[in-house]
Amino acid sequence: MGTTARRVEKFLDLGKQPIANAFVSPGKCQDEYFYDLEVGLDTETKLVSHMNCVDPPLMFNDSYVYYTSGSKTMVQHFKDIAGYLKEKFQPRRVLEIGSNDGTFLKNFPLENTVAVEPCGNFANYTREMGYETHTEFWTQDLAVKIATADRFDLIYSANCMCHIPDLEDTFSAIYYSLSDKGVFVFEDPSLAEMLERNSYDQIYDEHAHIFSVTALKNVLEKAGLEIFSVDKTQVHGGSNRVYVQKKGGPQYEDGSLEIELEQEKLAKLDKVTTYKKFAKRVEKSKIALVELLHDIKDGGNKIISYGATSKSTSVFNYCEIGPDLIDYITDTTPDKQGKLSPGVHIPVVSPEEGFDDSVDYAFLGAWNYLEEITKKESDFIRRGGQFITHVPEVRTLRGEPICQP
Ligand code: TMP
Repeated sequence: MGTTARRVEKFLDLGKQPIANAFVSPGKCQDEYFYDLEVGLDTETKLVSHMNCVDPPLMFNDSYVYYTSGSKTMVQHFKDIAGYLKEKFQPRRVLEIGSNDGTFLKNFPLENTVAVEPCGNFANYTREMGYETHTEFWTQDLAVKIATADRFDLIYSANCMCHIPDLEDTFSAIYYSLSDKGVFVFEDPSLAEMLERNSYDQIYDEHAHIFSVTALKNVLEKAGLEIFSVDKTQVHGGSNRVYVQKKGGPQYEDGSLEIELEQEKLAKLDKVTTYKKFAKRVEKSKIALVELLHDIKDGGNKIISYGATSKSTSVFNYCEIGPDLIDYITDTTPDKQGKLSPGVHIPVVSPEEGFDDSVDYAFLGAWNYLEEITKKESDFIRRGGQFITHVPEVRTLRGEPICQP
């Protein structure tokens, strides 16, 4: 990030990992790309990031497979936040960075709303809806290209800022694009929640950073931006939504920032020892999960995985769990079905094909959608089926919440 020398202390090594969303066609396994997933803490800004970020075009391209609208939870989530932002800030010009299939954007008028989405297959969704759409990565060059004299009153971005290696360039481009009274609202998985839940599978290629509010405050300040409010949301396994304006802008701090910073200080998110302890818990989780899966399998049971998620790519590759333990993965995304999971090559099938009475146990690749899944799969639970999770600790469950809020 930037030109100044960074001092980064490595604390975690998740081994050789593939591109988490690059599902492989049978017969094409030899072309797979792997990288070393190592994570460190920047001792100045307190930012937690990959030691070597994967080059974004390797992950975000015309073969990208993550559809926001694939989950009812996410559709409702974006409808709710769009409604809130419209009412609260009454923005005239709106920009979304990382617009995916338009689930958030479609709540705004076609006029004066702009989409940025580097994955061509997804950019086509908003373009076909009629939105001005730029199939490019968010950079200062793009910000200059799309700016009009009338800057944006609202810039929104969900699960995208944490994907961008160079935050200095990113946030400077936001500063340039925002009107003087404008607000920049973004949400990404929370570092505090990840530590609390031991959900190390939040760490995969796309998540170049896992943000604490402390680190965000430090990095945003360098670009002339300030946080005036923070919301916690339960999506994606616990996220922070951060409200930002130009330094000295018109919005008042509502106290939530202070509370978050205080809590993060109490949780020692600024200390590398905290992360080294986390790394030890991650190692223990790996041993426990592999043991549990072997025990269940040795008992003659069939284990599948529910949701071919980026998170499960991270778990299966770190724990070296392959088709010998997990028969297959079920997933609702047509583009993933018929393919093999990245790295460990577990077949992916549709739920209609694979989630039948022969399944005894289902590992929750999509543990962050447990509520939605247990509602949908009440028959599985009723007939004695059990889920397996590693969050916050390795165990089986029948649909009870994973973490008490
Ligand atoms: P995510 O964890 O990266 O949001 O990905 C969720 C994946 O899980 C996506 O491929 C869709 C899949 N999924 C199912 O197969 N069934 C479900 O019920 C849910 C909620 C998600």
